[in-house]
Amino acid sequence: MQTQSDNIMEKIVSLAKRRGFIFPGSEIYGGLAGTWDYGPLGVELKNNVKREFWRAMVYERDDIVGLDAAIMMNPKVWEASGHTSLFTDPLVECKRCHERFRADHMGKEEKSEHGEKHYKEYSKENPGEVMNSGWTYIEAEKSFTEPRQFNLLVEAKLGAVEGEKTTVYLRGEITQGVHVNFKNVLDSTRIKIPFGIAQIGKAFRNEITPGNFIFRSREFEQMELQYYVRPDEQEAMKQFEYWKEERMRWHVAIGMKKENLRFREHAPDERAHYARAAWDIEYNSPFGGWKELMGIHHRGDWDLSRHAEFSGTDMTYYDEEKKERYIPWVIETSAGVDRTILFLLLDVYHEEENEKGKRVFLKLHPRLAPYKAAVFPLVANKPQLVEKAREVYKNLKAQHINTAWDDRGNIGKRYYSQDEIGTPFCITIDYQTLEDGTVTVRDRDSAEQIRVLQSELIDYVNKQLTA
Ligand code: GAP
Repeated sequence: MQTQSDNIMEKIVSLAKRRGFIFPGSEIYGGLAGTWDYGPLGVELKNNVKREFWRAMVYERDDIVGLDAAIMMNPKVWEASGHTSLFTDPLVECKRCHERFRADHMGKEEKSEHGEKHYKEYSKENPGEVMNSGWTYIEAEKSFTEPRQFNLLVEAKLGAVEGEKTTVYLRGEITQGVHVNFKNVLDSTRIKIPFGIAQIGKAFRNEITPGNFIFRSREFEQMELQYYVRPDEQEAMKQFEYWKEERMRWHVAIGMKKENLRFREHAPDERAHYARAAWDIEYNSPFGGWKELMGIHHRGDWDLSRHAEFSGTDMTYYDEEKKERYIPWVIETSAGVDRTILFLLLDVYHEEENEKGKRVFLKLHPRLAPYKAAVFPLVANKPQLVEKAREVYKNLKAQHINTAWDDRGNIGKRYYSQDEIGTPFCITIDYQTLEDGTVTVRDRDSAEQIRVLQSELIDYVNKQLTA
């Protein structure tokens, strides 16, 4: 039986593909598990989400600067950060089909068909019970190997000459690019502790079981802040609490439903090797409930101390006010861009029944919507209307307002088509436009229409964008 929750994921995946948001990676060659390509509308949505992050982190603050580090780094970076030895997941293998699974996810949702057979059909209360597959719970449990640690770093070979190539790693987190540049940023700016460095970029992980659309992929994007503070527990925890709340506020501000978000503290055995304190912001997903959206970590002096030790570079900071020298501590916030997009899509997806049938619309904040406006001539075969509509369209685009053009079919269909991709304003040029210079602006969420003077249109749209 299909549940409503399965249904919504199917609807989102299907809409994403059909309307050019997200396609399976390398699809014409049968795909590549755990990779996804962002299409014409997806890249706009993604850029808009990243721009909002950058705005909140860098442009609206004095204490944070940005950085864009290389994806490939000297392999010593990953030794220093502990990733070559500690960045592992426990892996088990099915003795029947040799498929591999994350041991810590067994019994949850992340399984292939075969794994599901092992684990969904048994009853823990009655381990001897025979499952549909003909196995008992005890037999199923025994059909997996003992867990082994599996390193998640993705290797690449770098160099021009075969045989002399160096193994490098595609970064497993974007974090280390910031820490290795700590001194460069200090020396090239006037920034003082407490301060942060924000970064957005790709990360790569050899995930054992990628799945749930873009929730867990092998190539994904992260948006992070590394915030450097004095090595003082009280000061560090004050910042930690501040950033927890601030990140929650941001996710709600961009349009996620508050009731679908919660904080969760990591149990001590769950924490990453670097974390002194760790909380997640979780999202109540339709695929198995609460899932990690982002993490807030107190990394102490782990990163800078290790890079000082492994590189021989002095990573201390001289605090002129306090006349102290120290290795700063780090409070990190780390969110997945792709997870933000998936959870946002789930929250903004709306269906509405009316006398004309079903209307699907994405209630995206206008700043996040791929197109801010769409312009239609009422009919495509009246040159005067088309010419005027073209003028309106070009004027909007000249103001960097990403605008769609549509002159196919009837107006109702054009509205529905834009609703489905979240375009907040549809602007129609009709016969009245030619008489009094007003255009119809139809609101995506209410479907209400008002008339706006053509000369005031850009101000009208910009006002909604800056709201
Ligand atoms: N620098 C800290 C760090 O990387 P993490 O909890 O491993 O911490 C941070 O990752 C965020 O990156 C996660 O909360 C999630 O949103 C995203 N993320 C991690 N692995 C991912 C994957 N395989 N696919 C998509 N997003 C992922």
